[in-house]
Amino acid sequence: MADLDNIKETKKFSPDNPQNAQGFHVKGCSNYGWGMKTRLSNIFNPKSGRTLMLAFDHGYFLGPTSGLERIDLTIPPLAPYIDVFMGTRGALTACIEPGLLNGKAVALRCSSGSSILNDDLSHELVSVDINEAARLNASCMAVQVFIGSDGQKQSIENISKLIDTGNAAGIPTMGVVAVGKTMERTTKYFQLATRMIAEFGAQIVKCYYCDDFETVTAGCPVPIVIAGGKKLPEKDALDMCYNSLQRGAAGIDMGRNIFQSEAPVAMVRAVRSIVHDGITSDQAYEMYQDIRK
Ligand code: 5RP
Repeated sequence: MADLDNIKETKKFSPDNPQNAQGFHVKGCSNYGWGMKTRLSNIFNPKSGRTLMLAFDHGYFLGPTSGLERIDLTIPPLAPYIDVFMGTRGALTACIEPGLLNGKAVALRCSSGSSILNDDLSHELVSVDINEAARLNASCMAVQVFIGSDGQKQSIENISKLIDTGNAAGIPTMGVVAVGKTMERTTKYFQLATRMIAEFGAQIVKCYYCDDFETVTAGCPVPIVIAGGKKLPEKDALDMCYNSLQRGAAGIDMGRNIFQSEAPVAMVRAVRSIVHDGITSDQAYEMYQDIRK
């Protein structure tokens, strides 16, 4: 085992020298088979290499939250502008018409195990079987990973199980860096957690934006998509999207900053243009204001 007493400061991330793509548009995934690559291509647009996911899986531990009281009313109007629906199997099958999925992908939430009634949210289990993921046509399976918390080992078992079964079925796994009340949100923490998740074998990592984010993306050999976090003023959320992509993120997986916006359709369209059309956050904010008029 590496010597824990003599860990040198990490500096050589070389963000200006991107990892060799090896002929496939999804970072670090060129050595997978055809099925896995088709699913990754459902998620990451082969032209831009990017993705816009809409996260609406909050109810799996929070119950009905602001903006998601009625998934059937909130999500369908946003559907034309997103690439991926990130939800639980219950929300997807009960509230999302299969026809809305035409040309789009599913990121299926596959872990659960606690609720807001628990102080420690880190004890989860794999709550969706691989056959169910295949039946629901999931393009990836999402699982929380709690590095540094009580549930760390359990969540590493969960992601390892999903990766083993997912690789056998050609379904990618997205490891979600969990941040709880007491968990760190520092650059060092995100460097550690994203890298660990990639080394477990996840094809996609979801993480929060932070200072020096280019060191987090450069140190992670597979694509990172950012979570939105708590609702911010629209311009701040658009700045975060733009900055994260400039610093190496391959996409946005946002929830509250879209569906809790004053104008969710205007917001999702503005975010989409940052992700796929390469506009700046100033231009996107102008677009947001024009559409919401
Ligand atoms: C954490 C998740 C959630 O889907 C996601 O982070 C919530 O989205 P947002 O923070 O943008 O509202 O993966 O469990």
